[in-house]
Amino acid sequence: MKRAVVLGAVLSVCLAGTAISGDPILDRQAVMKNTGAATGAGAKIMKGEAPFDLTTAQLILKTMNNAAHGFGYMFPAGSETGHKTRAAQAIWDDAAGFEAAVAKFAADTSAQVTDEASFKAAFGAATKNCGTCHESYRTAQQ
Ligand code: HEC
Repeated sequence: MKRAVVLGAVLSVCLAGTAISGDPILDRQAVMKNTGAATGAGAKIMKGEAPFDLTTAQLILKTMNNAAHGFGYMFPAGSETGHKTRAAQAIWDDAAGFEAAVAKFAADTSAQVTDEASFKAAFGAATKNCGTCHESYRTAQQ
């Protein structure tokens, strides 16, 4: 039952998060919200607050990996401001550095999850990217 609840929560945020509005700021914020929700579900498994379930675990990594693949395209010129964006100017000023951070996130979320141990290793590596990228490329809360 608990397992179905976690999976349901992850699935519903995935579906909600994939809605493409056509506005790059709203789209990247939706992708990141979705990434945050997947990370929250993963953190529960890591802390033993939710039971390990292979399908859920794979979906969590897949959600992050999908985010990494689309994310680099969501910062076109002209999307520096609006919708309370927290995208830092460094994304445009240091495009190569930002692209490298996105590529690293994509690589670190592409690991195969086959059991609890491989999930924990992959989740640990994947979530190291959040703070590293936010520190350089996301501004403080407005
Ligand atoms: C390559 C850079 C990068 C990586 C990696 C990254 N983020 Fe983000 N994240 C951003 C940027 C940039 C924003 C601000 C987007 C905006 O407001 O336009 C953001 C915003 C967010 C938000 C706020 C979304 C909103 O508007 O409500 C959350 C939550 C979030 N990230 C979670 C995560 C988590 C969890 C991870 C790791 C699993 C992660 N991010 C990895 C760059 C990144």
